[in-house]
Amino acid sequence: MASLSLPTVESIREQFPILQHPDSHGRDVVYLDNGASTQKPQCVIDKEVEVYTKYYANAYRGVYEFGQRIDDELELSRESVRDLIGAESKEEIIFTAGTTMSLNLLAYAWGSHVLEPGDEIILSRMEHHANIVPWQLIAQKTGATIRYVPLDDQYRFDEQAFEQILNSRTKIVSLTGMSNVLGATIPVSQVAEAAHSVGAVFILDAAQSVLHQPADVMKQGVDFLAFSGHKIYGPSGVGVLYGKQELLEQMPPFLGGGHMIDQVFDDHSTWAAAPAKFEAGTLPIAQAIALRPAIEFIKEIDFDWIEKHEKKLLIRATEQLQEIPGLKIYGPDVSEKGAIVSFTLEGAHPQDLAFLLNRHGVCVRHGHHCAMPLHEILGVSATVRASFGLYNTVEEVDKLTEAIHQARKKLRLA
Ligand SMILES: Cc1ncc(COP(=O)(O)O)c(C=O)c1O
Repeated sequence: MASLSLPTVESIREQFPILQHPDSHGRDVVYLDNGASTQKPQCVIDKEVEVYTKYYANAYRGVYEFGQRIDDELELSRESVRDLIGAESKEEIIFTAGTTMSLNLLAYAWGSHVLEPGDEIILSRMEHHANIVPWQLIAQKTGATIRYVPLDDQYRFDEQAFEQILNSRTKIVSLTGMSNVLGATIPVSQVAEAAHSVGAVFILDAAQSVLHQPADVMKQGVDFLAFSGHKIYGPSGVGVLYGKQELLEQMPPFLGGGHMIDQVFDDHSTWAAAPAKFEAGTLPIAQAIALRPAIEFIKEIDFDWIEKHEKKLLIRATEQLQEIPGLKIYGPDVSEKGAIVSFTLEGAHPQDLAFLLNRHGVCVRHGHHCAMPLHEILGVSATVRASFGLYNTVEEVDKLTEAIHQARKKLRLA
């Protein structure tokens, strides 16, 4: 990868092949759906190609050269994740299929390990379905109850209410680090400390926040953390579950199969140590290996640069969108949120608006964004969401605004 000692958005864009050509209608693509999934830099694509063309084999099974190389590359990748989130050891890093898989693993394995009838699981009102539904499934099985932390009148996580809900029956606190709709964040260290004060474990759904609010699990007291490769400029099909070593030792396995065992007898088995204990079957090998260049790419650009750049885009978008008649933005003040703007436009169905924006090459998401309970609170069934990434430009923000103006004319709202 070319050196990015002084990154500019132009030099970053050059590294994304998909941004170098128009769509099939000849339109410049303004990709503002980064909250759903990000585009991939050349170094990530190259790494996957390298794996398949130079040394592909199954993982942790072969003593031949390719097999050894795959194992080494996977361990390097594990180490880069450890470094990214400030974990103590790479044995605490489990490769999964993504955030959803990581949270299901936790709900099933940790949930069934600790929950008893009457116990409580705390979530917030701004969770993605991936951090709601697995807990509902396990609550139904164990007799536990889910309690939701409300949002305040500015769509922020209500910390005071959270502390009031916490009690001796709370066994699990599982919260998103950043809402995929509102961009609202949570005070991670304070939440972890409060959860620990009642003996609960704290799980951070870092799918949206891992890039925007870099995690430091040891310093912040995070017990488990989940994120997806595809949202941080890495491959799809791979995700991460971090768990504190002592908790991983206590947690029973989720899936059984190859690689996760120590001994298998006719009637029972014993388990390998983590991370293997939670990595049954064949891993997403090339994807897990190509997560490392994605992490290195981000680190080389620098988190501060990313934060400042995305904040600039967020402020510009917010200022412009606020001026559009009938447009309502949902979420806290820009100073308190990540680079996501969700909005509705009076007189326009979100799907129609997204469709009309696409005519100008502007790619946004519409719908409930897998956050139906949140939309219930917002009082709308759907919103339009523009989510910014490190390759977006101020000109693209202007194109979004201009496309909305054009859509208003088309819909005869202007
Ligand atoms: C906050 C949050 N959690 C979980 C997920 C689920 O991620 P994945 O679909 O990669 O498993 C998402 C995806 O949008 C998300 O935004």
